[in-house]
Amino acid sequence: MEFSSSSCFSSFLLLFYVCFCLCLATPPLVVATGNGSSCNNTNTTRHHHKWIGPIGHRLITVDVNGSGQFRSVQDAVDAVPENNRKNVMILISPGHYIEKVVVPATKPYITFQGAGRETTFIEWHDRACDRGSNGQQLRTYQTASVTVYANYFSARNISFKNTAPAPKPGMQGWQAVAFRISGDKAYFSGCGFYGAQDTLCDDAGRHYFKQCYIEGSIDFIFGNGRSMYKECELHSIATRFGSIAAHDRKSPDEKSGFAFVNCTVTGTGPLYVGRAMGQYSRIVYSYTYFDNLVAQGGWDDWDHVNNQNKTVFFGVYKCWGPGAAAVGGVGRAKELDFGTAHPFLAKSFVNGRHWIAPWDV
Ligand SMILES: *[C@@H]1O[C@H](CO)[C@@H](O)[C@H](O)[C@H]1NC(C)=O
Ligand SMILES: *[C@@H]1O[C@H](CO)[C@@H](O)[C@H](O)[C@H]1NC(C)=O
Ligand SMILES: *[C@@H]1O[C@H](CO)[C@@H](O)[C@H](O)[C@H]1NC(C)=O
Ligand SMILES: *[C@@H]1O[C@H](CO)[C@@H](O)[C@H](O)[C@H]1NC(C)=O
Ligand SMILES: *[C@@H]1O[C@H](CO)[C@@H](O)[C@H](O)[C@H]1NC(C)=O
Ligand SMILES: *[C@@H]1O[C@H](CO)[C@@H](O)[C@H](O)[C@H]1NC(C)=O
Ligand SMILES: *[C@@H]1O[C@H](CO)[C@@H](O)[C@H](O)[C@H]1NC(C)=O
Repeated sequence: MEFSSSSCFSSFLLLFYVCFCLCLATPPLVVATGNGSSCNNTNTTRHHHKWIGPIGHRLITVDVNGSGQFRSVQDAVDAVPENNRKNVMILISPGHYIEKVVVPATKPYITFQGAGRETTFIEWHDRACDRGSNGQQLRTYQTASVTVYANYFSARNISFKNTAPAPKPGMQGWQAVAFRISGDKAYFSGCGFYGAQDTLCDDAGRHYFKQCYIEGSIDFIFGNGRSMYKECELHSIATRFGSIAAHDRKSPDEKSGFAFVNCTVTGTGPLYVGRAMGQYSRIVYSYTYFDNLVAQGGWDDWDHVNNQNKTVFFGVYKCWGPGAAAVGGVGRAKELDFGTAHPFLAKSFVNGRHWIAPWDV
């Protein structure tokens, strides 16, 4: 057993090393600080370009059974120095990491690389009504199993879970977040997010989710992020009534919004596809497949007193499937024309040209 487990881990490591240089060779990010001399472009250093990207690479291994440098993911994060300037790959071997993890704002450029979203899990079980170390209730945002405040975070092929039981209808304080992203320019691919109420806290900043699986019941993607979800599966486990996305844009000046492109919506309903958590909530579904689980009306105003339906921006573009007609819905949710949908279809929605490698889109 010893042998097979360690050889399994080392072949995983090997695979990773092959991938490491390829995946982490993110394009350099440069800012022109000089003055119109960019035609003479043989040496960028001479032309006042300042590097703002990370310099150098570091690999840290984590293995729950002790074959890595650390057994816990938080220990690996703690090993990264403050004001980190390197691309840090935290390679997490298969297993369940039962811990609460925080990546602080002082530690940008960290990647969590799992061995697959079906084999590598970070999980915890806090609920909003649970009490923290100060005796106060945690409230929703503090319940996340994994919280990231840092910029330039990424995660690949790993799952995040909140294992608190799903609330029964009407229960208060059972919000239980699996993952909270509050940093800017975060990238996720092949990740799983599992929870019930409020699974993924897409709090603030620009984020890109590619081929992820997100499961929950009520408002299971929520917050004020400016995010694109591409080719993701949004899976409802609602037992009586559920909702996918609650977006919290508060003023018309904010650029935040949730853009779902080429996603699939599956599971149990009935389900609202979007809710106006903020007065200027913005949610667009494009090229998305809806199973037959969408509630009458499709969308919800949140409190039904502030006339959010006059200020929200809810749209659909070329969606399909048995539930698609209901998403066309009422009030402000409408089928967009190409010109209106266009800003919500490409990575430019999150300024992706500057921070997402072309092969990662
Ligand atoms: C890690 O240990 C657990 C129990 O201690 C075992 O079930 C599991 O198979 C081990 N995983 C690996 C990759 O060796
Ligand atoms: C750019 O050029 C303008 C006028 O040519 C000058 O006033 C300014 O100081 C220059 N800025 C830098 C950063 O060199
Ligand atoms: C390009 O820059 C170099 C060094 O700054 C300078 O010597 C050279 O004359 C420049 N060439 C042109 C065409 O501006
Ligand atoms: C660019 O210029 C800097 C300083 O002027 C020099 O140290 C460096 O070697 C140059 N790089 C190349 C590729 O020419
Ligand atoms: C993630 O998993 C997918 C599917 O198993 C695989 O094709 C891909 O190479 C993996 N990517 C990384 C960066 O681990
Ligand atoms: C959606 O994704 C499928 C494969 O997953 C791809 O073939 C298709 O071109 C995509 N459609 C759009 C509009 O991006
Ligand atoms: C907005 O919501 C209010 C209250 O729910 C409703 O009376 C009104 O007709 C709605 N307006 C539109 C434009 O849908």
